[in-house]
Amino acid sequence: MFAPASLTALLFILLSQDVSGAPTASTAVVGRSMPIRRLNPLSRNLTLVAQRARNQRDLLAVKYSGQSLQQRGTGYNLIVNQETDTGYYGTIAIGTPPVSYDVILDTGSSDLWLTSSTCGASCGTSPTYDPAMSSTFQNLSTPFEIQYGSGAVAGYVAEETVQMAGFSVAKQGFGVVDALSSAFNTNPVSGIMGLAWSSLSSTQQTPFWQTLASDGSWDSALFGVQLTRYGNVSGAAQNEPGGVIDMGYTNSSLYTGSIEYHDLVGTPQYWEINMSELTVQGNSIDIAGISTAIIDTGTTDIAGPASAIASIYAQIPGSQAGTGQLEGYYTYPCSTTVNVQFNFGGNTWSMSPADFTHSQASTTECIGAFFISSIGQGGPSWVIGDAFLKNVYSVFKYSPASVGFAALSETAIAQNGVKAAVPSPTIGAVTAVTGTVSSGALSSRPLSILLCFWLASTSIAFLFW
Ligand SMILES: *[C@@H]1O[C@H](CO)[C@@H](O)[C@H](O)[C@H]1NC(C)=O
Ligand SMILES: *[C@@H]1O[C@H](CO)[C@@H](O)[C@H](O)[C@H]1NC(C)=O
Ligand SMILES: *[C@@H]1O[C@H](CO)[C@@H](O)[C@H](O)[C@H]1NC(C)=O
Ligand SMILES: *[C@@H]1O[C@H](CO)[C@@H](O)[C@H](O)[C@H]1NC(C)=O
Ligand SMILES: *[C@@H]1O[C@H](CO)[C@@H](O)[C@H](O)[C@H]1NC(C)=O
Repeated sequence: MFAPASLTALLFILLSQDVSGAPTASTAVVGRSMPIRRLNPLSRNLTLVAQRARNQRDLLAVKYSGQSLQQRGTGYNLIVNQETDTGYYGTIAIGTPPVSYDVILDTGSSDLWLTSSTCGASCGTSPTYDPAMSSTFQNLSTPFEIQYGSGAVAGYVAEETVQMAGFSVAKQGFGVVDALSSAFNTNPVSGIMGLAWSSLSSTQQTPFWQTLASDGSWDSALFGVQLTRYGNVSGAAQNEPGGVIDMGYTNSSLYTGSIEYHDLVGTPQYWEINMSELTVQGNSIDIAGISTAIIDTGTTDIAGPASAIASIYAQIPGSQAGTGQLEGYYTYPCSTTVNVQFNFGGNTWSMSPADFTHSQASTTECIGAFFISSIGQGGPSWVIGDAFLKNVYSVFKYSPASVGFAALSETAIAQNGVKAAVPSPTIGAVTAVTGTVSSGALSSRPLSILLCFWLASTSIAFLFW
């Protein structure tokens, strides 16, 4: 979601993945001397001897070769599609022993936060983090507050061991939230993992991904995202398989052709790139002036300047600007197939007509996925969320700081709309127990639907459960 400045989509999650098994720890004893045993020459088996010798050399190489000590790697976290494409979450483990929590994966913000066990009613009914249960909790005692469009979260900054996709970061700074404004408290939430750059961080911490990308933990200093589509599937469950976040590599089974990278505009903060052309029904929309776009997995739809949004709907006969709760949105006849294409200075990327439909407003009228952003001057002109990102494999690269897009493979496309159990995420090298749900949790969660959420200085709404 486009966080501190203005808009935010906060989605919440009740579900916490069950990770089987009790916490385990393996102990390696280092530097202990071994009794020397004489090998009976008769017992020698050349093959075995050679093998042991080779093992020993390998071990020495690992111990003393410096560079190779640095473990590089890759990992992935299967994610969950909530409320038919409204939001996507993954699972992290935090603390010692590790406990797992579901968090919105948000390339539009840079803070990791979790609701705390001391928060009480305002934090809703999802699992909460309890510092007292972890031996690696370190209180930095710095207060923080993050203003989202629709409200605020506040608490203090702490450090913890955080794990995701098989990677672990010790002393990861994060926010322990002990107050949520009322705009949030109807949404059961455990938290958000911000995947943008540290310069945006309200808690002034380096995001998990950025630590791993910059310290050489990853084979390639980037992460890739594939998001599934259930928006045009009838009877989709509240939670469905959401795709994947690939850390340290791109999964070539999920895309075809090459990845088209675009350098970020200015100093990295958001994943913000130039947008050069937008066409609707084959006609170019005037996006005059400097048009930049934030690539934001944490926003459901696509926000743009009022004049450009009006031009988009001007291509669709029968469309109308929304009023009241729908202010900033437009409705249009559901019978219209709307084709939108984006160009960021390379290939043209098409968005499926299915993704142009945000939701149905009546039997004949649909709410479009493009809405008016109220981000002021100097900010990015567009926020491009999941409505577009479902159509590509997107890559977020640390250096050179850039965003890449590639066409989805048949394998990736075949994952859309497949009704299945939500995946078990890969959390870390060790197993984690599931966060505890405060009492009363599962009871009354209205399954409501989102209207929109959008906010700027004053306004609106977004997702009400
Ligand atoms: C030596 O050990 C290897 C591996 O265990 C075994 O496959 C092989 O048959 C052994 N050779 C002899 C001569 O015992
Ligand atoms: C951490 O520090 C903050 C600020 O001093 C304090 O309010 C909070 O209670 C502390 N948390 C714990 C678990 O000690
Ligand atoms: C790549 O994606 C395919 C299709 O989803 C999956 O089966 C495979 O396990 C993935 N490989 C890696 C290394 O992530
Ligand atoms: C973005 O567009 C502006 C205006 O055309 C240009 O000056 C700038 O170099 C572009 N930035 C990147 C990273 O392409
Ligand atoms: C949903 O939209 C996709 C992309 O346009 C399309 O391929 C698929 O057939 C649609 N599914 C249904 C059930 O209409």
